[in-house]
Amino acid sequence: RLPLLIDTDPGVDDALAILMAHAHTDVAALTVAAGNVGLGHTVRNARTLVDLIGATTPVFAGCPSPLVRTPEEDAAFVHGADGFGDVGFPEPRHRAEAEHAALALIRLTREHPGELTLVALGPLTNLALAVRLDPSLPERVKRLVIMGGAVTGRGNTGKVPAEFNIGFDPEAAHVVFEAFPLFDLVDWEATVRHAFPDALYDGWVAADDARARFFGQIFATARRFNAKHEREGFIAADALAMAVALDPGIVTRAETRHVAIELDGRLTRGATVVDWQDRLGGRPNARIVLEVDQARFGEMIRQALGA
Ligand code: BDR
Ligand code: CA
Repeated sequence: RLPLLIDTDPGVDDALAILMAHAHTDVAALTVAAGNVGLGHTVRNARTLVDLIGATTPVFAGCPSPLVRTPEEDAAFVHGADGFGDVGFPEPRHRAEAEHAALALIRLTREHPGELTLVALGPLTNLALAVRLDPSLPERVKRLVIMGGAVTGRGNTGKVPAEFNIGFDPEAAHVVFEAFPLFDLVDWEATVRHAFPDALYDGWVAADDARARFFGQIFATARRFNAKHEREGFIAADALAMAVALDPGIVTRAETRHVAIELDGRLTRGATVVDWQDRLGGRPNARIVLEVDQARFGEMIRQALGA
């Protein structure tokens, strides 16, 4: 089984990705960032998930804010003020560890060199900090899969071309994109292309399983938001990235390119600038996932929800 290290800001689609990971493989740790909502909520949500799954996965709290600038928006308007649809879950039993997430990333990759697949589902703050503290970290990671970016500028934030995870902490994304030799990039536009029909989703969450009931509850707020914004069908960005992490063979179309992060820009801060035409001579650092086998992706979600 391929062990995963998951950096995350749960978040409803993070939750689905984390359920998928636990259903299909071993998870070494959840390192938690601020993003969708504040760190207090994201850490608590990670602990709630570990309880739900009945696992013992250690949870490490990371950075409460981005490396440099305070972002203009979080994603509470999609995920709910508490990040989990404001359902009002009780205080989780599973405790967070004392060690900082960035230090845990460094330690775990030292203890298991070349073995861990790192899946980044939130702003890249913890990972950037870990790389600055220990520049050899990328060499010890088997593979890195990042959910982030909008490779032709069709983003999902107030800054038109930016996607949320990159737009929340562009400097962190810059550090990570420069530091890793080659990573898989699952962007927002790929997410939109891999929507599921609502009827399929309804069938999954109707299953007689605690995970299905839980996900149906936390996703209700996001679903209303999506419907209002004419997002067709069921989409889950982090779940798509997790599918690619768990099953690399699921990718049916990808292109490897140099991707840089816009750090300034009057309108474009946080954009993922892809050198589609190979004009700049930059090192190709990202394998951009364009298409996956949708049936296999759906099957992984179904199993994770116990449907
Ligand atoms: C990403 O932003 C967050 O809101 C989601 O959890 C996902 O990681 C999608 O742009
Ligand atoms: Ca996320």
